[in-house]
Amino acid sequence: MTSPVDENRRPAALPLLRGQKALVTGANSGIGKATAIGLGRAGADVVVNYVAGKEAADEVVQEIESFGVRAYAYEADVSNEDQVVGMFADMVERFGTIDILVANAGLQRDAASVDMTLAQWQKVLDVNLTGQFLCAREAAKEFVRRGVVPEVSRAAGKIICMSSVHQIIPWAGHANYAASKGGVLMLMQTLAQELAPQGIRVNAVAPGAIRTPINHDAWATPEAEAELLKLVPYRRVGDPEDIADAVTTLASDLMDYVVGATIYVDGGMTLFPGFATGG
Ligand code: BGC
Repeated sequence: MTSPVDENRRPAALPLLRGQKALVTGANSGIGKATAIGLGRAGADVVVNYVAGKEAADEVVQEIESFGVRAYAYEADVSNEDQVVGMFADMVERFGTIDILVANAGLQRDAASVDMTLAQWQKVLDVNLTGQFLCAREAAKEFVRRGVVPEVSRAAGKIICMSSVHQIIPWAGHANYAASKGGVLMLMQTLAQELAPQGIRVNAVAPGAIRTPINHDAWATPEAEAELLKLVPYRRVGDPEDIADAVTTLASDLMDYVVGATIYVDGGMTLFPGFATGG
């Protein structure tokens, strides 16, 4: 079963994030794209980070601008320290500050562990884990410098780490990816513990199977989708907008007392579906 995204359930402009400045990494496709658009729809100005694919990033910018907020695309590799530092400096110059970081950029380089090259291992750890650390560090510096602006938000800043159900579900053939997301869980919780006294909320969203390019083969044919849905008690593949809505709410003051949490947005994938009939 699939359910198309119902545009009617999302009003054109929710005031939830009005006046806030957001940066979304890896925002020119998939979950990052939907999230950047969702934050713009909720009233935030948005920096659309990408590493390759400028045209797609520019299209995301145009869609966000149609909500009457500001947006621009910025090319930077989140695993490159100088580029990350430059991206945040540029944002502070153009938007004045940052209120919301969505550390989303991520990739897979799948291989059986015995065949996995060091390059495959390193690339995934560099982007998925080191990239989140570098972006969170730069965002936190600005949050601490600026402090709370009560008219904008109760928090001095919000960091949302894009994790995965694989921060707790082991995944054969994906040791690099699962290790990176396990790392994201502990990075997120440690940052949350460290930064909460300064008014900064760090949390994670952990998607399950979402229909994006990263897992195209898992849902592209009816047979593949049927296999995938055996792992999803709610029996539908997620849409990127499912994640965007969770991020938008988590970034808003509606969730102001949520600190160091992971919100699983996975149709129940983390509920050990095999035990529904076994065990
Ligand atoms: C992965 C997808 C996978 C999903 C559920 C995600 O984190 O990127 O490839 O389909 O987890 O297993």
